[in-house]
Amino acid sequence: MPLFNLRQLKATKSIAEFEAEAGHTGLKRVLSRWTLTALGIGCIIGAGIFVMTGLAAREFAGPALTISFLVAGVGCACAALCYAEFASILPVAGSAYSYSYATMGELFAWIIGWDLIIEYSMSSSTVAVGWSGYFVKLMESFGVRFPLWAVNDPETAHALITKATANGTLSDLANHYSSIDLPSIAGLGIAVNLPAVLVSLLIMFILTRGIREAANTNTAMVILKVSVTIFVIGVGAFFVDITNWEPFIPMRGVNDMGEAAFGYQGILTAAAYVFFAYIGFDAVSTQAGEALNPKKDIPFGILASLAICTTLYILVSLVLTGMVKYTDLDINAPVAAAFASKGMKFASWFISIAAVAGLTSVLLVNILAQTRLFFSMAKDGLLPEKFFGKLHSKFKTPFNATIITGIAIAAVAGMFPLSLIAKLVNIGTLFAFVIIIIAVFMMRKQNPDTKRGFRVPALPLVGALGILFNVGMMISLGWENWLRLFLWMAIGLVIYYFYGQRNSRLNKGKA
Ligand code: ALA
Repeated sequence: MPLFNLRQLKATKSIAEFEAEAGHTGLKRVLSRWTLTALGIGCIIGAGIFVMTGLAAREFAGPALTISFLVAGVGCACAALCYAEFASILPVAGSAYSYSYATMGELFAWIIGWDLIIEYSMSSSTVAVGWSGYFVKLMESFGVRFPLWAVNDPETAHALITKATANGTLSDLANHYSSIDLPSIAGLGIAVNLPAVLVSLLIMFILTRGIREAANTNTAMVILKVSVTIFVIGVGAFFVDITNWEPFIPMRGVNDMGEAAFGYQGILTAAAYVFFAYIGFDAVSTQAGEALNPKKDIPFGILASLAICTTLYILVSLVLTGMVKYTDLDINAPVAAAFASKGMKFASWFISIAAVAGLTSVLLVNILAQTRLFFSMAKDGLLPEKFFGKLHSKFKTPFNATIITGIAIAAVAGMFPLSLIAKLVNIGTLFAFVIIIIAVFMMRKQNPDTKRGFRVPALPLVGALGILFNVGMMISLGWENWLRLFLWMAIGLVIYYFYGQRNSRLNKGKA
């Protein structure tokens, strides 16, 4: 018997099949185009702009971080246009997973679905870690301190202690925590990022209660987050000193971490890192099952949320690098620290609160997207339907999928550092974007006459640019991340072989 059944691997799900299913998901249709845009923004503005900009500018790009945001923005815009075209043909909850099921066949669909788990779940873990950092800082400003072991993952906790011991700065470290001793089990120092774990579990609980409640919570947080971002741009602009932008592209050299940085390559490295800031617009497409008019509103939500965030990011990065010399930017809370450095303590405090709220809404939408993805995969028989596809009798939410997603996200957030998870998320998401761009070409060829609510303009140009920019960013993420991506994919293929291939509904129907 061959390892895989080739005919099945290439079997595609037709548009008619998707449409027939779309009417029978059991999910409530309550989301308008602006609620969808808010969901997009809720998912986009988060750790990328509030946390990662500091490191990206200070260690890799300098003031040219603005160009990094442009580069990453172009790669995302090309992919977003493709997502929008797909969403206008297939208004279904499974996002890129469903789009590849319709064009490239079941195996590719599974690969993308499996890959998107990295995007949605692991980015939730990343954001939960960023949330924990801001939360701990905020609490510190109120005089509340936690033990080091309870607010850091093991790697970070050990690194902090080792570095402080080597530099003779243990007493400085002790000032930030109520204790810096690690409890040990069998001689091994234990640490876990408890705030990151708890916030993940809290969001999980909110999401089990229902989509309308979740969307309302999100809209309130998005309003706060966007207001603060506009405040940062508007007020920060008065504190810009244009000499801080010189040189705009610092000469190539070695950064504080001993890595090659700056110059044109540094711009690309920073782009691949801050790419994280854009992730989330595609999550809008996973809400198709709950949108009022999905064929029009989902493309609108995707493109509007990305356009709004790109504009805000470019302005924030200009203001930030203009307010503070890039070499002096704070790494953990760069935006709040920039205002604090200008004596605006209150503004800094306000920004921190908004960041905590903002990161909460990113978590909310990402976890929501992950549960809907599991739901779609389960409905297709690629994951156990009885478990992942079951809706709660009262709340009409995929209860089990939500619980298992929340627990997995909390576990990773508690145990791993932010930069490691973020890079894995970026490479996985960039890979999905490249596949989606290729899939649009295939869809145009396979179904040229299908009515499209939205068409990518100048597809050959947009597609080529998208692949160039996104693959370029993937390359600059380095071989370790490629290896992690391959490992994850290998695990996925094993699961597909033992479960998906045998239980696929498409396969059973066709048989
Ligand atoms: N774009 C999201 C963020 O920056 C994932 O947090």
